[in-house]
Amino acid sequence: MSAQPDSPSPSPALPATPDFDAWPVDVAIAAVDHDAHTLTVIWEDGRRSHYHSIWLRENAADDSTVNPATRERILDLSRLEAWPTLEQARLEANGAVTLAFLPEQRQLSFHPGWLRAHDYANLVEHEPALVPRTLWRGVDRDAPITLDAAGWMAEDHDAMSVDPLLEQALEAVIGEGLVRLRNLPTEPGSLDAIARRIGPPRPTNFGALFDVRAKPDPDSNAYTSIALPPHVDLPTREYQPGLQLLHCLENDTVGGEAVMMDGFAVAEALRDRHPDHFATLTRVRWCYANTARTSDYVWFDPMIKLDANGEFDEVRIADFLRGPLMAPFDDVEPAYAALMALQRLLREPEFALRFSYAPGDLVIFDNRRLLHARDAFDVSQGGSRWLQGCYLERDEARSRLRMLKRAKRRARLEDA
Ligand SMILES: [Fe+2]
Repeated sequence: MSAQPDSPSPSPALPATPDFDAWPVDVAIAAVDHDAHTLTVIWEDGRRSHYHSIWLRENAADDSTVNPATRERILDLSRLEAWPTLEQARLEANGAVTLAFLPEQRQLSFHPGWLRAHDYANLVEHEPALVPRTLWRGVDRDAPITLDAAGWMAEDHDAMSVDPLLEQALEAVIGEGLVRLRNLPTEPGSLDAIARRIGPPRPTNFGALFDVRAKPDPDSNAYTSIALPPHVDLPTREYQPGLQLLHCLENDTVGGEAVMMDGFAVAEALRDRHPDHFATLTRVRWCYANTARTSDYVWFDPMIKLDANGEFDEVRIADFLRGPLMAPFDDVEPAYAALMALQRLLREPEFALRFSYAPGDLVIFDNRRLLHARDAFDVSQGGSRWLQGCYLERDEARSRLRMLKRAKRRARLEDA
């Protein structure tokens, strides 16, 4: 059974969507077809999309399905009298699709832009990630992706506004794990307002903002002038902070160059060269422990973690934050052999990207992916080196980037 659009007439507004997003109709629907369990949409560019009746019923936007105030779902599918099926599918003059569901006898309309964006039947074409991930080696780069943020903090931005600079920055952070902004203010504490342009910082026992500079009676090697080996911060936590921000306020010391490397690229190289060692590091749980005088964080996890799709999710590499390995007896020697293979890789210069901090620089990096390190700096030759840092979750970067993309779509709709 197929339906063509009704004859042209003044188009009423498109139906609501089950969210607060904006969905421009880039491709219109040419025709719809259906059977009891499936809706087929034929788009003007020739794509055919297939949606199950049960999926459509759950994702309707009416008041029986979502709370109009929150757009959160209130429908409990198991309370329907029977499996929802399609009695009729109609393409409206305004481009929406109206479906008649049985046994409810309910007519529900669907927004074509929303349907196109949620075409799960074309997952291969559907963008699987917010930003595609690129693994990189320092040897292939002169510098991190760098954006000039002069004047940016004086601009007015809120959660609903477009912000091309922040959008580029977050795409770099999500895709490459690293971005550098330059020419930001250098007032102590200004990092808090900068971070909140992305989302609320995650406080830790080192404070909401932490100062990275040599200080007496340090509670971390970071707060000395010694070199730091490549590491992630806080693998001692069940959930490692997702993003780290380091903001340079002062730097006129000798040495102290920053070193960053893509932990996923290092892990990939390990998988290529030593698959057995790679497998060991994805399996054996190491102990991560901070040995401060006034706190006692301990966590056990593999050094390389993959997600449900087998993609890299995180690395936990920080030799100075590992406690004694407590693994099954037969795992201990293979675990150390794998660890040393990884440590040798980390020393290879091809992975490291080196750069110096200038006052007003801010690096934002994925702390569960990138390793950061630092050369020793020499305070005896005068000068000072003062960075302030804070953490955010990956969620904040993704949410903020989606909002920026939504703002752009909304602006397009308003211009149309
Ligand atoms: Fe660190």
